[in-house]
Amino acid sequence: MARTLKIHPAHADLETILVTETAIKRRITRLGREIAKTYGDEEITVVSIINGAILFTADLLRAIPNPVRLDCIRISSYRNETKSIGKPQLVHSLPLDVTNRHVLLMDDILDTGKTLAMVTGVIKKLNPASIKTCVLLDKKGRREVPFDAEFVGFKIPDKFVVGYGLDFAERYRNLPCIGELRPDLQNPPEWA
Ligand code: IMP
Ligand code: MG
Repeated sequence: MARTLKIHPAHADLETILVTETAIKRRITRLGREIAKTYGDEEITVVSIINGAILFTADLLRAIPNPVRLDCIRISSYRNETKSIGKPQLVHSLPLDVTNRHVLLMDDILDTGKTLAMVTGVIKKLNPASIKTCVLLDKKGRREVPFDAEFVGFKIPDKFVVGYGLDFAERYRNLPCIGELRPDLQNPPEWA
């Protein structure tokens, strides 16, 4: 018998959907307003951590009316598919000049806090006018170093999630929603 056609075939690999496409769109519109209110008429230098923050950055930038400069940075992988296995490091020095600029650092998810603690430390040494952080997701229960983001899309429980930029072994980034990856598809099977 023919399978019922799903909106996206990868939905079958999700245990549950945690954030729908509609909820993401609505939250991004409101985040854009919060950010505009915080910065007034100031120009913002957005520094986006790729690959994970690519989709979030592309959508959020269009919801921010301020003048924006954009650059992307890459962190050397310090995880295997689901687990933290070392220290995060910047792959190249920051390409855009951030001295005396209002820097808004963007990432897909705030988990142990190691990545954003390291990157904000590097940026602070470059004497920005200010530095604030914006994350789509916050897994607050998983923090290993203290870190809070000024702008948070959604607080989520301690589950391994994929979609809307978040990956498992580089897959699922193109899912329009965010969901928990089925535990039997996670390798190693336990997310701890
Ligand atoms: P942190 O340094 O532990 O805060 O990790 C942040 C990075 O870990 C994120 O930018 C993601 O690349 C990755 N990460 C953490 N949790 C998840 C998840 O549930 N799904 C996919 N990637 C995750
Ligand atoms: Mg990432």
